[in-house]
Amino acid sequence: MLIDTYGRVATDLRVSLTDRCNLRCTYCMPEEGLQWLAKPDLLTDDEIVRLIDIAVTRLGITEVRFTGGEPLLRPGLVGIVERVAALEPRPRMSLTTNGIGLKRTATALKAAGLDRVNVSLDTLRPDVFKTLTRRDRHKDVIEGLEAARDVGLTPVKVNSVLMPGLNADEAPDLLAWAVEHDYELRFIEQMPLDAQHGWKREGMVTAGDILAALRTRFELSEEGADERGSAPAERWLVDGGPHRVGVIASVTRPFCSACDRTRLTADGQVRTCLFATEETDLRAALRSDAPDEEIARIWRLAMWGKKAGSGLDDPSFLQPERPMSAIGG
Ligand code: GTP
Ligand code: 5AD
Ligand code: SF4
Repeated sequence: MLIDTYGRVATDLRVSLTDRCNLRCTYCMPEEGLQWLAKPDLLTDDEIVRLIDIAVTRLGITEVRFTGGEPLLRPGLVGIVERVAALEPRPRMSLTTNGIGLKRTATALKAAGLDRVNVSLDTLRPDVFKTLTRRDRHKDVIEGLEAARDVGLTPVKVNSVLMPGLNADEAPDLLAWAVEHDYELRFIEQMPLDAQHGWKREGMVTAGDILAALRTRFELSEEGADERGSAPAERWLVDGGPHRVGVIASVTRPFCSACDRTRLTADGQVRTCLFATEETDLRAALRSDAPDEEIARIWRLAMWGKKAGSGLDDPSFLQPERPMSAIGG
């Protein structure tokens, strides 16, 4: 079991498969991209599967999420999913992607055993998409979403970050579109995890702003609080249901006290939190032939030291050195 000194138990493992991406979202990374991890530093497919095996057989992990960067850029993804699906006990498996390439891979991912996907889409307007992501790929994302839904990688969730002056006015339109197409939409407050360190609290669209905008067009009713569990999204029923909309308010309504996550970076470092300032090296242990139980012990010890919260509200808050794309979203 991965338990920390506050009594929280991590059952959800988020695995970053690459720090690379084929978009350049302005709230994430600069136009020229970043200094990518070198190939020898990345965990191999075998190393990733071995760590997930240790996590499910020895550490109580029941959910595995593949992230990046953009995880569809990892050549071995389908094979990794297939091998994880064969583990006992079999964890639930999901993928968080920008959706480009999903049209091509959805069928194979479903067949390999992936359960569901979350796709990032911030705007319904192709021109705004191009400004926001610096790439003209809006159509690919829409087609990827449809493919995921049609092959049954469901529920398909859509993640949207709203940026003032760009897409901040789109909340109601995005929700109407998501309801029509049977996607579960969640709005995410922008977090200080951008490579450029340009985040400003005052420049952020808050959960309060988003809910007020949605209520101009929809009736939102609150779900029973116990239904949320450890999920970061607070959810509302839209016009009485059955569709829901979520808000992930990491900044204005943090959910750290219920956090059930542990993270693995593409270069094999355990992170206790998105905002952790320290990492624990599992790759070194793997490559020095440590037995499974030793790796499990190092992982347990790392999680025992998990801090109470993100520290975002502390005057001494320091943004982690790695940006979101290198940590795993
Ligand atoms: P499901 O609801 O189970 O599908 O997952 P999710 O919402 O946790 O996953 P997803 O990968 O779609 O992440 C949505 C947003 O939540 C992203 O912006 C993540 O960076 C953010 N997020 C994920 N994990 C954490 C976390 O531990 N802490 C915080 N503050 N945000 C997180
Ligand atoms: N703050 C909030 N969300 C972010 N994402 C990327 N960078 C940030 C940030 N700084 C989102 C992506 C994607 C999800 C995994 O995280 O848009 O939807
Ligand atoms: Fe790529 Fe995601 Fe960063 Fe956008 S937010 S550039 S899709 S890693």
